[in-house]
Amino acid sequence: MLSKRILRVVLLLVFSLKICALDFDDLKDTKVNFISAVYYTEWSFYNKHYPIDVPLSQITNIYYAFAKIDPSSESTKWADKNVALEESFPLYHAEFPNSCGARDEQLYFELSGSKGSNEFVNSTGLIGQLSQMKELKKGLKISLAVGGENTNTLFNKITSDDAQIENFSTNLVQTMVDYGFDGLDIDWEFPTTENASKLIALMKSLKEKFESHERMNGLETNSYLLSLALPLDISSLLCYDFEILQKYVSYFNLMGYDMTGPWSEKSGYHSNLYPADDSSGASIDTSVRFLLERIDRKKLILGMPNYGRSYDCMKPGDKFHTCANIAGVEQKKKQCIINYHDLPPDGFIEVYNSTVGSSYAYNQNRGIVFYDSPLAARQKAAYVKQMGLAGGFWWDSYGDSYCNSNNRSLLHNFVDELGGTSALKLNDEVINENFYNGQDDEPARSCAMRRHLVRTKELFNFTLCALIVFIELLLL
Ligand SMILES: *[C@@H]1O[C@H](CO)[C@@H](O)[C@H](O)[C@H]1NC(C)=O
Ligand SMILES: *[C@@H]1O[C@H](CO)[C@@H](O)[C@H](O)[C@H]1NC(C)=O
Ligand SMILES: *[C@@H]1O[C@H](CO)[C@@H](O)[C@H](O)[C@H]1NC(C)=O
Ligand SMILES: *[C@@H]1O[C@H](CO)[C@@H](O)[C@H](O)[C@H]1NC(C)=O
Ligand SMILES: *[C@@H]1O[C@H](CO)[C@@H](O)[C@H](O)[C@H]1NC(C)=O
Ligand SMILES: *[C@@H]1O[C@H](CO)[C@@H](O)[C@H](O)[C@H]1NC(C)=O
Repeated sequence: MLSKRILRVVLLLVFSLKICALDFDDLKDTKVNFISAVYYTEWSFYNKHYPIDVPLSQITNIYYAFAKIDPSSESTKWADKNVALEESFPLYHAEFPNSCGARDEQLYFELSGSKGSNEFVNSTGLIGQLSQMKELKKGLKISLAVGGENTNTLFNKITSDDAQIENFSTNLVQTMVDYGFDGLDIDWEFPTTENASKLIALMKSLKEKFESHERMNGLETNSYLLSLALPLDISSLLCYDFEILQKYVSYFNLMGYDMTGPWSEKSGYHSNLYPADDSSGASIDTSVRFLLERIDRKKLILGMPNYGRSYDCMKPGDKFHTCANIAGVEQKKKQCIINYHDLPPDGFIEVYNSTVGSSYAYNQNRGIVFYDSPLAARQKAAYVKQMGLAGGFWWDSYGDSYCNSNNRSLLHNFVDELGGTSALKLNDEVINENFYNGQDDEPARSCAMRRHLVRTKELFNFTLCALIVFIELLLL
């Protein structure tokens, strides 16, 4: 009699916990929390690609690229200040060339009122929109990426002595705080052996300033993220002193792409997980294993391309002269780069090679293009899990298709293979309450609106939960 009663109590308890949907996952610290990040480039604005086009449920981090180094002020500047800070554009707009309507409707539309309504606030610049996205997804971390391609000379110049490093890092951290960023991503591409000690001095100085800001604002240590972009080739990686860097760096972003390109002798995969027959032996796995002997695996994020590289030859390993001849597809001049959302081109056949962990598409008359297909993205997610890495990131968000309907989105496939959105890291600590909101006070209103919405829902959940438990107790 008694055991039956206990059984009933237990069953009801289990039942009610399920209904109340208490988030036990959050309590388990054994849970794997993966990073899923994208670089958003300021210039993709000109292609009508906005930060909000990136599906919020699929990402944990965004890197805003790039703040340009300005040696004259020992600080950074926006490449296009108007676009970064001033341009006014709505958070919702109907015509997205590449989003395929795959944005997070449930997150977004409940805030914008009715579907298709334009009533939700305009953003003040891209930075303003990023701030709004942090309102939409609590815990989304947005870092300011500094530097970029071929910036060794600039970084070298701005770190000429200790005083300059001190001033530059002070200015960088001030910019980060002023504009509501959660971290800095240093894209010093790439230090040589002689420059490597300056990189260390810069990272040390930044980390110390982060810590003093954290103390001042009562934040936990490591609230601000300090990440560092890494090249893939081992000879470049040999320049870094990882033992020391690891003390300051939250995440190393391994740029797992551009292994081959127009500069290469023969065509080939450019983001292959494992060495290909006809490659020099370079592969992501080779570099990852090199790094894992030196850094904590939980600090390593695998970078993946949202683009392909094309050649006017037919097979991997063939000699080539120029880019593939692909009518109607925009290719960046001389670089033969094609956005993933244009791949495979019409009339091309996609081939996924699981032995090398990448893909290509070819057409007997027009050429070949190397890129990651959805299956390659899934293979990389499995690799990240197997190796226990921190997660993945993409260069850059404009390239993906974000189409749910045909499962082409690399981001969706990657996250799905990791175990879905529940396998992603949740950052609950909101570190910048005062987001950058531009001149307009409208975004501030939207924040209040959202807080109100969430509180109402929480209250509703709590009441519902309490009611269920109460009824159960009566039934016993
Ligand atoms: C430090 O940076 C500020 C702000 O950019 C600049 O005005 C100043 O000249 C720099 N100070 C030194 C000592 O270099
Ligand atoms: C929002 O931006 C759109 C497009 O830039 C513009 O037409 C509209 O007037 C703006 N709305 C407000 C309230 O500023
Ligand atoms: C650092 O890098 C630059 C390239 O920008 C190079 O000219 C210089 O010799 C390097 N070494 C030192 C010690 O500055
Ligand atoms: C896949 O790559 C491996 C290694 O380069 C090669 O031996 C094999 O033929 C490739 N398969 C296809 C279908 O391209
Ligand atoms: C997309 O992928 C999911 C998960 O693997 C699968 O269940 C679904 O059937 C796929 N949809 C299409 C259209 O291929
Ligand atoms: C309310 O509960 C549902 C599940 O019953 C959950 O999905 C939702 O996130 C909860 N909402 C809030 C605001 O806690």
